[in-house]
Amino acid sequence: MKILLLIALLLSAGMLLVNPIEVSAHGKDPRGGTADAQMKKLHDMMPVFSVASAECESALDKGDMAAAKGPANRILAATSDLKKCKPHKNVKQHKKFLELATSFEKTVTSTADFINNDDLPGAKTAFKKVEEACAACHSRFRD
Ligand code: HEC
Repeated sequence: MKILLLIALLLSAGMLLVNPIEVSAHGKDPRGGTADAQMKKLHDMMPVFSVASAECESALDKGDMAAAKGPANRILAATSDLKKCKPHKNVKQHKKFLELATSFEKTVTSTADFINNDDLPGAKTAFKKVEEACAACHSRFRD
């Protein structure tokens, strides 16, 4: 019952977040345009993650903390949205998806903190955990 409530809550939260064009495009689909939009959102978000994490990694490899800051913050800014998304695969395991998104957010926050404190070794270790968290979510919800 709790899970049903949570899902209902998430669906309505997602409804508020999708842009109006998407709503009208999917609104005709009686099978649930909202879930569609949440999937699209995720699909659109991932390339941002991909580019930003590559930039962050190469900046950390070079020891360039100033260059790592921007991409780390871009990933961080997108993570709260990630929790409002839905994967295509294993859609019903939404609780697990939220858990993975939340622990992902923690790893990104910690990386950004190390970067802001100019702690390169700390940032590198923390960033490895970010990559592990990307992979952990993909292994269940993408691959
Ligand atoms: C909480 C889950 C989750 C996390 C964390 C996550 N991803 Fe994804 N990612 C997905 C899912 C689900 C897909 C499949 C997209 C779909 O279903 O539309 C995906 C797809 C992708 C794709 C393929 C493009 C696409 O849209 O299919 C790339 C590239 C990607 N992710 C990169 C990353 C990177 C880099 C990170 C970490 C910085 C990351 N992701 C973190 C869930 C996640």
